[in-house]
Amino acid sequence: MRKHFLISSLLVLVLGLILSGCAGNETNTKKEKIDTKEVQQMSAYIGTDACITCHSETGQGFAMTSHAGIFKSLDQYNTDFKQMVNVWDGATKENPATKAINLEDTYGVMMDSYVVGNIDGFSQELYRVASLEKSEQGYELVAASLKDYNSDGIQDWSAKAYSCAECHSPGLVAQGLGIKNLEPGISCETCHGPGSIHAQTKRKEAISINQNACITCHTLGQPSETEDGSSLIAENHYGTRNWFASDHYTSGYVNCLSCHTSHEVNKEGSMLKGDNFTENCASCHKDENFDIEEIMWKNPTDLHDHVTRDHSFGAIPYEKIGDNPETKEVEITDPKIIKKLKSLIK
Ligand code: HEC
Ligand code: HEC
Ligand code: HEC
Ligand code: HEC
Ligand code: HEC
Ligand code: HEC
Repeated sequence: MRKHFLISSLLVLVLGLILSGCAGNETNTKKEKIDTKEVQQMSAYIGTDACITCHSETGQGFAMTSHAGIFKSLDQYNTDFKQMVNVWDGATKENPATKAINLEDTYGVMMDSYVVGNIDGFSQELYRVASLEKSEQGYELVAASLKDYNSDGIQDWSAKAYSCAECHSPGLVAQGLGIKNLEPGISCETCHGPGSIHAQTKRKEAISINQNACITCHTLGQPSETEDGSSLIAENHYGTRNWFASDHYTSGYVNCLSCHTSHEVNKEGSMLKGDNFTENCASCHKDENFDIEEIMWKNPTDLHDHVTRDHSFGAIPYEKIGDNPETKEVEITDPKIIKKLKSLIK
């Protein structure tokens, strides 16, 4: 996964020298134009520690966000990972492979819960090797799941295929130069792209700022159709349910970063502009008074407890969707709302 190409590294160095040469040359009034995409393709990852040597304030803000703590290294836990366990490949149905591994060799822990690693010889790239469970003493190590693989009457440790990386530990699946410098979780270069040439040249065009960076993980929240087409099921997990249906989105004037920060937290520790909900809305809606529980309702039927507030800002009120909490996670059965939603999905 983590390949290193010597030739391309040299290219990066040469290009970096040329660009820094241009930037420093006073007689050269016109700076060499930089195509951000092209330069980033030649850039290597340098890691958060390198970025914050120049951007220390941003680094401090970022460290407070839940993004920064999403995937932690083993040494941040008071748990003894030095343990040999015999794990079975839970991603394979027939004749699963088995291997003795030291849990100390895993990559780290997602959301204080999933211990993630790679197991040589197993069928997938990444595995949830074990779980952490909070106890009074701290965190305890337990199996990701148990199953009697060799029919000897004893429950064996199962390593389950890990599919959450793209959003919860993007550094583990990213590819490119200098990949060994990239942290496994969310880091500066997750959103800004590799920054070696930017760091060498200090040229702002060498690093990307993408206002759409948020929705690669926090998807627009479009519901999917049930098999018989009679109702819709709302996506429960990614945080921005029904955002695509809001006047904010359709007006084209408001995006995630109108209300949220990219690397700062407010007094309540959340990535919201303003100290709270009321202050946030008042920055644009001076004379209106909104009730957060009504206009940003919480999902009452979330199977996985990934509680997210509705982001349609009144366009899809909970009472109107026809949800039956007994049958499904948020399901939309009201024909009028279905028609409205379908007309809005692009
Ligand atoms: C050697 C110091 C240095 C390092 C290291 C550095 N930067 Fe910068 N960065 C700067 C300077 C100086 C600017 C302002 C450039 C300007 O305004 O022309 C800047 C600007 C930026 C911008 C704003 C770009 C824009 O379009 O306005 C971003 C984003 C950024 N840096 C991200 C990063 C990231 C991510 C890293 C690590 C991969 C990093 N920087 C490492 C010095 C540095
Ligand atoms: C979750 C995505 C994300 C991560 C992680 C992230 N940034 Fe940013 N950053 C942005 C976005 C989006 C902007 C555009 C500014 C805005 O509108 O808030 C930005 C803006 C910047 C700027 C321009 C000045 C400013 O603050 O507006 C700098 C410098 C910067 N980031 C550096 C960093 C560094 C250093 C890190 C790591 C410590 C980092 N960023 C991590 C998304 C991110
Ligand atoms: C690589 C995937 C990824 C990207 C890109 C990303 N996020 Fe997140 N974000 C997450 C995940 C996963 C969580 C859940 C973290 C948790 O609960 O500990 C989260 C949590 C949040 C939260 C809730 C927690 C809090 O601190 O308030 C907000 C708000 C948020 N993100 C906003 C943003 C914004 C704004 C951007 C774009 C600048 C962005 N995210 C980009 C994955 C991402
Ligand atoms: C497409 C991106 C994406 C994928 C894939 C993904 N998640 Fe998430 N996850 C998110 C985002 C974004 C949030 C933040 C939502 C919020 O705070 O509203 C989140 C939140 C969570 C939370 C709740 C955090 C909290 O504080 O309430 C848990 C638990 C979680 N994810 C587990 C998982 C697991 C387990 C997997 C893999 C089976 C997974 N996620 C796959 C994007 C993703
Ligand atoms: C009009 C303002 C506004 C816009 C635009 C907005 N949000 Fe939010 N968002 C909020 C408020 C208010 C909360 C309530 C949580 C809080 O108090 O921190 C919130 C909460 C969240 C949360 C935390 C989990 C939850 O549901 O409570 C995530 C994640 C999130 N927003 C992501 C996004 C993303 C991604 C976008 C862009 C697609 C976005 N938001 C656009 C105002 C906004
Ligand atoms: C960056 C400015 C901005 C912020 C912050 C903001 N809004 Fe809006 N809001 C707008 C714009 C622009 C529209 C669209 C107006 C139009 O298209 O007529 C809008 C429309 C709305 C609407 C639908 C029409 C109406 O006025 O009743 C609601 C409801 C709404 N916003 C609620 C909120 C809530 C709740 C918050 C705080 C979480 C918030 N807004 C924060 C700019 C903002």
